[in-house]
Amino acid sequence: MKEYLKISLLPKDTNMHGTIFGGVIMSYLDLAGAICARDRFDNLFVTIVVREMRFLHPVYVGDLLSFRGEVIDQGTTSVTVKIEVDAERIDSREVFRVTDAEIVYVAVDRERGKTPLIARGHDQPDGAPRRKGQ
Ligand SMILES: CC(C)(COP(=O)(O)OP(=O)(O)OC[C@H]1O[C@@H](n2cnc3c(N)ncnc32)[C@H](O)[C@@H]1OP(=O)(O)O)[C@@H](O)C(=O)NCCC(=O)NCCS
Repeated sequence: MKEYLKISLLPKDTNMHGTIFGGVIMSYLDLAGAICARDRFDNLFVTIVVREMRFLHPVYVGDLLSFRGEVIDQGTTSVTVKIEVDAERIDSREVFRVTDAEIVYVAVDRERGKTPLIARGHDQPDGAPRRKGQ
C-alpha cells in the first residue's frame, strides 16, 4: 500500500457533536482512491461504486489522517481500489484505523462515456511517467 493523501482536519470539518463529519472523510477517501487509480492508469475517472464502509473511531480536530491505497482489481473500463484511513491523534500520537473501503472507478473520455483503461506509461519500457516533451 502507498500513501496517497495526508491531511490535518480543521474546525470547519466538524459536525454538531464537535467531531469530524464523516462525509468530509468520505470525500477525501474518494479523492485518495482516484489519485491511486491515476497512479496506475492514464485515464480520467469517475466513481461508480463505494462498497460498505464503517467508521471505527471518532476523528477530532487536529488529527492527522493518512490515506493509503492500492489497486486490487481491474477490468476493461473499471479499476477497484482499496483505501485504508488511519488517524494520528495530535497529543498522544496514537495511530488507529478510522475506516477502509473499496471503491470502483470507471475510466471516461471527454464526453464522459466509459473507455478502456490505459496502463500508465504503457509506451515507456520501464513504466516511467512521461515527462514534458516526451
Ligand atoms: C460511469 C458510467 C459512465 C458507466 O457507464 P455504464 O454504461 O453504466 O457502465 P457499465 O454498467 O458497463 O459499467 C462500467 C464498468 O463498471 C463496472 N461496474 C458497474 N457496476 C459495478 C459494481 N456494482 N461493482 C463493480 N463494478 C461495477 C462494470 O463491470 C464495468 O467495468 P468493466 O468494463 O471493467 O467490466 C456511468 O454509470 C456514469 O456516468 N455514472 C456516474 C458517475 C459519476 O458521475 N460519478 C461521480 C459521482 S456523481
